Amino acid sequence: MTSKREFVPALGKAEFTNSYDKVIAVMTREKRWRPLVAKALALAPGEIVVDIGAGTGSQAVLLKSQTPGIRMIAIDPDPQVLAIARAKAKAANVAMEWHEGFGDEAHDHLGERFADAVVSSLVLHQCPMDVKSGILVSAFRMLKPGGRLVIADYGLQRTFLMRALFRQVQMADGFEYTQPNADGILSELIPAAGFAGLEERHVFPTHTGSISIYCARKPA
Ligand SMILES: C[S@@+](CC[C@H](N)C(=O)[O-])C[C@H]1O[C@@H](n2cnc3c(N)ncnc32)[C@H](O)[C@@H]1O
Repeated sequence: MTSKREFVPALGKAEFTNSYDKVIAVMTREKRWRPLVAKALALAPGEIVVDIGAGTGSQAVLLKSQTPGIRMIAIDPDPQVLAIARAKAKAANVAMEWHEGFGDEAHDHLGERFADAVVSSLVLHQCPMDVKSGILVSAFRMLKPGGRLVIADYGLQRTFLMRALFRQVQMADGFEYTQPNADGILSELIPAAGFAGLEERHVFPTHTGSISIYCARKPA
């Protein structure tokens, strides 16, 4: 079910969505950081894994290809990116569940199930403050006790160069939603949603600012 809520599309405007994969490959060097996300998740066959804001499916397809025994559930509000993602999964010969929906309502898509791990990459920086929090709370609700959270996103921009490069993202996605990330808000919001053991495991410099990989757990 799709509501009439608004969201920022993958590259800021719907007309750019078809270029998303090419832009992300070059501007974020995703071949370097996506495997770090997979490593941080440390998935095992049989686990239920949810990708919130899965977009064109690059992270979800990588995870399912690396660990075929997982049950992968990918959620995004944008039918345009989901169409690209489905085609990508088909080409990679991997099967997963695709759901059209918002991240702060993601737990509603699991029914009676609970997740072993939740991942979200490059989503929170383009969401309003209440939605950033809502997505983290939804992730917390859907996880089993002891379940893992891995967030990869533009986090605290620590240097003049990274802040300057991050301006490109801010021009595309707007300053209101992106600036709190650049100021380091994710390190506050993740524990505020109930998560324990927060660690900023990697800070990865890119041509569009630094991407941080945050790991935390729902207390057992
Ligand atoms: C920059 S793309 C990232 C896509 C993908 N996770 C990746 O790593 O390439 C951001 C995605 O977040 C989605 N999005 C925007 N607002 C959202 C929300 N409130 N809940 C869930 N996803 C959202 C967009 O539709 C878009 O696909």
